[in-house]
Amino acid sequence: MAEDSYPPAPERLPRHIAIIMDGNGRWAKKRFLPRPAGHKVGAEVVRGLVKACSHWGVEALTLFAFSSENWKRPKDEVGLLMDLFINMLRRETRELDSNNVRMRFIGAREAFSDKLQARIAESERQTAGNTGLNLVIAANYGGRWDIADAAKRLAKRVADGEITPDDVTPEALDAAISTSALPEPDLFIRTGGERRISNFLLWQLAYTELYFTDTLWPDFGVRDLHAAMVDFSSRQRRFGLTGEQIEKGAERA
Ligand code: IPE
Ligand code: IPE
Ligand code: MG
Repeated sequence: MAEDSYPPAPERLPRHIAIIMDGNGRWAKKRFLPRPAGHKVGAEVVRGLVKACSHWGVEALTLFAFSSENWKRPKDEVGLLMDLFINMLRRETRELDSNNVRMRFIGAREAFSDKLQARIAESERQTAGNTGLNLVIAANYGGRWDIADAAKRLAKRVADGEITPDDVTPEALDAAISTSALPEPDLFIRTGGERRISNFLLWQLAYTELYFTDTLWPDFGVRDLHAAMVDFSSRQRRFGLTGEQIEKGAERA
């Protein structure tokens, strides 16, 4: 979609959108194509969505690209996903940089090849000074890993005598979690019809609005994203308060 024809930003804009990009394999199967064809088209879709989020002034977009469980897929498919990942970073980083996008990566990156780790570090370095959209790629990411990793960091600080066990609070864990630099996700989207979290941002999704769509990821366009945002903007977020309190303008406790 051309940038000047984007629909207007919905009334209440999510600051942070997190997406499980699911359904590439089924999209390909429906067309009698091999699964990799779905992944390729799926990767292309990302470009337009990132531009739209930048255009609307969304602060962060987190995309689940590869889960810690996806290593269990056939070797060929895993290899192709890794190649696609490297190629995307190589091809897209410059353009993202020129659009003031800051790239961040969450997940256990040490499991990736040296080449891919170097590419990730380079994309991060190149865009580190940017102040526009934060594009967060979750790769070899698992929500349980994230929580355990944060707990490990706090445990080390306890062992070093910097903090005591009583300092291990939800706030401290929140500050140690992978996305601590960003606002909590306001809107979660999963394409592909499944209604599950699949070990995505378990900690961060505590109060996120969930949106599920049957649209397969390669078919998910800017209009679909906009529809999810409009749906989000019509919801009343209560954070444990009553509807009446919210209507009276009570602040989040
Ligand atoms: C999501 O699409 C992409 C990744 C998990 C990398 P899938 O490959 O899971 O597609 P389906 O769910 O098999 O259709
Ligand atoms: C979640 O999709 C992971 C990504 C989109 C990267 P999956 O396709 O792996 O999830 P399950 O296996 O259906 O739960
Ligand atoms: Mg899937």
